[in-house]
This record gives sequence, C-alpha cells and structure tokens, in this order.
Amino acid sequence: MTHAPITITLTGAGGQIGYAALFRIAAGDLLGPDQPVALRLLEIPQGMRAAEGAALELADCAFPTLASVEIADDANVAFDGANVALLVGSRPRSAGMERGDLLAANGAIFGPQGRAINDRAADDVRVVVVGNPANTNALIAQQHAPDVPSERFTALTRLDHNRAVGLLAAEAGTPVADISGVTIWGNHSATQYPDLSHATVRGRPALDIVDASWARGPYIERVAQRGAEIIEVRGGSSVASAANAAIEHTRDWLLGTGERSAGHWTSAAVVSRGEYGVPAGLISSFPVTSAGGNWSVVEGLDIDAFSRERIDASVAELAAERDAVQELGLIP
Ligand code: NAD
Ligand code: LMR
Repeated sequence: MTHAPITITLTGAGGQIGYAALFRIAAGDLLGPDQPVALRLLEIPQGMRAAEGAALELADCAFPTLASVEIADDANVAFDGANVALLVGSRPRSAGMERGDLLAANGAIFGPQGRAINDRAADDVRVVVVGNPANTNALIAQQHAPDVPSERFTALTRLDHNRAVGLLAAEAGTPVADISGVTIWGNHSATQYPDLSHATVRGRPALDIVDASWARGPYIERVAQRGAEIIEVRGGSSVASAANAAIEHTRDWLLGTGERSAGHWTSAAVVSRGEYGVPAGLISSFPVTSAGGNWSVVEGLDIDAFSRERIDASVAELAAERDAVQELGLIP
C-alpha cells in the first residue's frame, strides 16, 4: 500500500452504529483495499470504555488497511487533520422530551463539533451527519464552520433511499439491481417524500408496474415509518443498516457514483442552492450524483402537483427546525 492514510473521525464510536461501522471501515469497505485509514474515535467520558473496547477488537482483527486508532474525548483532538467526519454521536429523544428539548441538547453537541472541524480538520474535510435530527444537526455544525465550504456538510438520507429501493423491489418482485431513479426528498423524518415518479424497474416506469395508489399512499408511509417499524420489531433503532448507509454515502461522495451517474442517482441531504424551490441554505435530501468528490443535484426532473405538495411539506418542516434552533440561539 503506497497511499498515505486518510483520517476518518467517528463520533459516538462507543455506541451501536459506531460498533457496526468501525470494523467495516477498518476492513476497507469505505475506501477500498488499497487505501489505509487512520481512525479517530470521539466519545464523551461515559462512552470511553466502550470505544476502548472496540479499539482492542480492531487491533485483534489485524486489518491490513487499518493504519492507526486513536481515542479522544476532546473534539479538537479528534478532528485534528480529519479528512472525513462521521457525526454519529447524538442524544436520541427520550420519553417526555419535546422536539425543542432535543434540538437544544443536540445543538450543544453539533455547534462545538462544527467549530472544532472548522479549526482543526484538513482542508478537504467532508462531513456526514447521522445523529438525529440529522439535517438540522448538520445545519448547526455547518453554521459553526464558516471557513469550511458549506457543501462539505451533508446529512444521511441514504438509509431512507435504500429502504425505498428495497421495498419497491419487493413489491415489483424483482431484484434491487433492477431498480433506479428512486428519490428521497426533504427531511430524514416522517415527512420525507420517497418519490417513485421517475423510478424505473428494468428500464420501465415503476408506476406502470406497481399500483400508483400504493406508490402514493402505503409505500410512502412504510418508507417514512421504517425507522419506527425497526424500533418496534427489534426493540432498538436501526444499527447495521444505518452504518451501511453511512458507509455507502461517504464512499459514493469520495469515490463517485460512477456509471450510476447516467440517470441513476442516489439520495443525500445536501446544502440547497435553491434547486426545486428548496430555500437556499437548508440541508435537504435531493436526487444526487457524485464525481470528483462533489455531490451534484440532478436537475430538470418534472415535479407534478402531488410531488410538489409532499416536497413542500417536508421542506417546511426543515425551515421550522431551522427557525427553532435560531430561536434557541444555536445558529446565527
Ligand atoms: P447509541 O446511543 O448506541 O450511541 C451514541 C453514542 O454517542 C454513545 O456512545 C454516546 O456516548 C455518544 N455520544 C453522545 N454525545 C456525544 C458527543 N458529544 N461526542 C461524541 N460522542 C457522543 O446510538 P446509535 O444507535 O449509535 O445512534 C446514534 C444516532 O444515530 C442517534 O441519534 C440515532 O437516532 C441516529 N440514527 C440516524 C439514522 C439516519 O439514517 N440518519 C439512522 C439510525 C440512527
Ligand atoms: C432510522 O431512520 O432508523 C433512525 O433515524 C432512527 C429513528 O428514530 O427513526
């Protein structure tokens, strides 16, 4: 291996998604078998022992692609020189918490982490926010990093995208490889809009194959509520599928979406430049491709009245979250 290691900082490394992601990243699933990675694990003091345990197990795997592992409870140390920042550590909502409480609790995490990324990370840093509420946490971090190009801050909707592809494939009775052109719009929340109006199954319009009333009713509900369904069935929120989605998002961003660029996109929450009427500055999910380390929103898709309404509803929720964190003084 002749490449210099790429430094990947993972927050919440002692948690569940951290544990599911670390071994795959160290094994080369993120950047390939020829690219060594240097891992930085950020935790709070309560999570340090779990992160230390994961580091011992990483050593016991003797991955040829793993250059080093360092653990820190100080963001300025953990993000120093980071090329990739995976922001997973976040406080989940617990009984009795209001949305405002959660936004406030997480603002206290993502503001300082954004500042530390601003001050310490490598010039090419790319940030992927997984911790919920992911889009607004990404916005808070981005607003605290004025020296980092804003488009380097993204939030994960790839899990929603993968869920949408999987559930369409099941309904159409076809392998997932036959599906393309699915889009997740808006927020990683129950208001998200999984859109099949441009999707194809083996090159044919998906809406000629599945019932349109299913696609615009139960399907949307099932995808948007899949996180809750997982919590109910397995007794805890999604872990391995979330780690997988974070790895796929980051790999596509850094290495490109390749042949899928030709009309076959994925979904990611990126900083809007006003595309499709989404107010500039909001971090909203769009159909995207990646080349040269940059996401591009797929432009020029027809948006019918039904889609317009669904996109607008989810984007309105994002704007309300932005206003709420502004009122809390978490962003300027
Ligand atoms: P978890 O509770 O198992 O782990 C979270 C870890 O983060 C803990 O170890 C905790 O100590 C750590 N942590 C808390 N504050 C921190 C801070 N300031 N710095 C560093 N670490 C900190 O939770 P999990 O199952 O790994 O989920 C993590 C987050 O991911 C949750 O917010 C969850 O809702 C979210 N999630 C998002 C998606 C998505 O698609 N965007 C999917 C699944 C889960
Ligand atoms: C998910 O989509 O699985 C996560 O965001 C967890 C949740 O609370 O839904």
